[in-house]
Amino acid sequence: MKYKDLIEKMTLEEKASLMSGKDFWTTQNIDRLGISSMFLADGPHGIRKQAVASDKVGLNEGIPATCFPTAATVANSWNVELGEKIGEYLGEEAVAQKVNVLLGPGVNMKRNPLCGRNFEYFSEDPYLAGKMAAGYIRGVQSHGISACVKHFAVNNQEERRMAIDTIVDERTLREIYLTAFEIAVKEGKTKTVMTSYNKLNGTYTNENMHLMQDILRGEWDYGGVVVTDWGGSNDRVAGLLAGNELEMPTTAGETDQEIIQAIHNGKIKEEVLDESVDRLLELIFTTEEAYKKLHVEFDVERHHRVAQKAAEESIVLLKNEGNILPLKFGKKVAVIGDFAKDARYQGAGSSIVNPTILDHTLNCFEESGIISIGFESGFERYGKKNIEKINNACTLAEKADVVLLYIGLDEVTEAEGLDRQSMRIPENQIELLDALYKVNPNIVAILSCGSAVEMPWLDKVKGLLHGYLGGQAGARSILRVLSGDVNPSGKLAETYPLQYVDTPSLLHFSGKEVSVEYREGIFIGYRYYDTANIGVQFPFGFGLSYTTFEYSDIEVSKYGVTFKLTNAGRVAGMEIPQLYIGCKSNEIFRPNKELKGFTKIFINAGETKTVMIPFDEKTFRYFNVKTNKWEIEAAEYDIIIGASSADIRLTATMFVEGTGAPIPYDKHKLPSYYSGRVNDVGLEEFESLIGYKVPVPTWDRTQPLGYNDTIAQCQYAKGGFARLAYHAIVFAHRFFRKIGKRDTANLIMMSFYHMPFRGIARMTGGVVNMPMLDGILMIANGHFFKGLIHVLKERRKMLRNHNSVKPIGIGSRKKI
Ligand code: BGC
Repeated sequence: MKYKDLIEKMTLEEKASLMSGKDFWTTQNIDRLGISSMFLADGPHGIRKQAVASDKVGLNEGIPATCFPTAATVANSWNVELGEKIGEYLGEEAVAQKVNVLLGPGVNMKRNPLCGRNFEYFSEDPYLAGKMAAGYIRGVQSHGISACVKHFAVNNQEERRMAIDTIVDERTLREIYLTAFEIAVKEGKTKTVMTSYNKLNGTYTNENMHLMQDILRGEWDYGGVVVTDWGGSNDRVAGLLAGNELEMPTTAGETDQEIIQAIHNGKIKEEVLDESVDRLLELIFTTEEAYKKLHVEFDVERHHRVAQKAAEESIVLLKNEGNILPLKFGKKVAVIGDFAKDARYQGAGSSIVNPTILDHTLNCFEESGIISIGFESGFERYGKKNIEKINNACTLAEKADVVLLYIGLDEVTEAEGLDRQSMRIPENQIELLDALYKVNPNIVAILSCGSAVEMPWLDKVKGLLHGYLGGQAGARSILRVLSGDVNPSGKLAETYPLQYVDTPSLLHFSGKEVSVEYREGIFIGYRYYDTANIGVQFPFGFGLSYTTFEYSDIEVSKYGVTFKLTNAGRVAGMEIPQLYIGCKSNEIFRPNKELKGFTKIFINAGETKTVMIPFDEKTFRYFNVKTNKWEIEAAEYDIIIGASSADIRLTATMFVEGTGAPIPYDKHKLPSYYSGRVNDVGLEEFESLIGYKVPVPTWDRTQPLGYNDTIAQCQYAKGGFARLAYHAIVFAHRFFRKIGKRDTANLIMMSFYHMPFRGIARMTGGVVNMPMLDGILMIANGHFFKGLIHVLKERRKMLRNHNSVKPIGIGSRKKI
């Protein structure tokens, strides 16, 4: 242990006190030993440091910070160096705001397009997500502070995220859901990992020995800190045993006492606590050095320009019929769509940034050189029909050469804590498009949203530019691409299916009660569409440019692939060649091809460059569930270079020696997996894959409610009061939706409806403790008076205890 001497000076109470937060955002300090508290702040695309740290629920607005494009956007750049640059700038701002740990990036896989938090995640592909995340982490940590990769792991739905049990087979877990974390740990060298809220195969991730010990600490040799997601700790002692150093936010000392008791009664050895304290001290001391050395005022304008550059490189041109773009000089455009007035530039939830500057499309026209003849909003942002707006828009559109139509999803649709209800954009926007098409078919749509949407309207637009969520400079960046000042170079980091019903997880998303079964296994995103031969709207890795690229002269060696890339057009541009590998043997089921490398290259018009994409230790590996190890199958492999996953430009084959592992599967028991047609895998086949009987996915309505049951389950509670509370919540939710306050309605679902009972104690900063919660549960389970008396008695006890305790930070010892 590095801090053995210091730890020996600590009392047991002091050590335990370090294991949970002091308030919502900071950790405990011990002044007499020179241990300061750390500040942890969101988030992935900008610092959300709240002005009032003691805010009990963390909902205050943050201090202004640069709002960079969200991860879903930057992933489209496929530029790891750009990710690292953004990380550096985020890190600089974090240091300026004295933040020790920046809570990002998020690397959860986009298993299903409706996950409400997809805008905050990079990709459906673990290799791309991992590489981008590692770049961010290196950038943030270059300042000495810590990034925090999250949410470890299989947190792929938002609804019921604090209770859902994710049932997934080991190979899928490793190949799809953990690889990005592995890259973030090994290549990014993240100093902090945040566990997710959900369970993994029956155990909360934060207590899951297999995940936390065998894999994270064992195989990946991770020596940093693990923090719970906020309010995500279930059993503090089990968490500590699994290797969790820090529970956030504060529980007002309650769980510290649980640790102390566990040590007294021998459930935990004190050395386990000491080792956790040692790792936490390393994080505290190394990160505080950063802002002690350098307290900078960051250059707001410069950071804004970096946000703009990031957005420019991440915009994806999806359609350009008749080369309608870039807009020729002198063309008159009608600007239509509410999103042109108020750009949609980030998602909702804990990642929300209070931007330093915010570019507005309508203010940036003059500098873009595009001649705007006027603006009409055309539709109501939150979906209400408005014929007058459509008529006004059509009148304007008639006079224009080209219509620029700004459409997308509103800010409350893509939100943490909730999943989207459908993949469509609001109907009133489609009605507007239909009407505009009749008066002027020269339409360029500019789409703003952080995840895949259905596009049944695609035929009605000649141009389609996807800006995703471009951050505070996104609006200007889009105009620079429309005008041709910037040649678009983004490519999709996720597949756009033709329709939601095509998605492989359709029948098992989202888990509504106890569990969610990942029956599609390794076949998510393009791995499925490509293997099962399902047509898509836009494939993974797709994006157009104002120039064209030609690929030639592939050569393969044991080190990697080399080929030539020529810019055959008239303007300079950037191309993203992608390396996919396909195994020709069918002994072990696999996707047709998988991404194993990529690069981004700038090439002048007419120029040819030689490109090399190296192989690495992940290129040919698969996870063998018999040997419980990564193995290589001896086989012939396709080495594929594509401009997208569907646009294959060069191929070669190569034989690779294997590791000699036994074939892990019985082919006859897994026909869907061997064919890749996994959209309707039966229970028996899934159980063959997973190797055990999956738990009953529905609530046992006969059982009394417990700590981990959610408030939503009050619908079948024995106590009338609980059922009443349930109906009141449902009513309030409907009411707020009805009056158009969808953000309040969302908050009700996230903060009450889907919250487990234990969250009442874990998220209220000591207002309610666990013994009081026992009383609340008695009420919910039909013992109203007994429960009420219990709550009041425990509350009195808690207040008495509080009054007799002084906080550790001010120099005295905590009484127990
Ligand atoms: C989110 C995390 C976030 C934390 C702190 C949680 O609800 O899931 O991503 O970092 O809150 O705001």
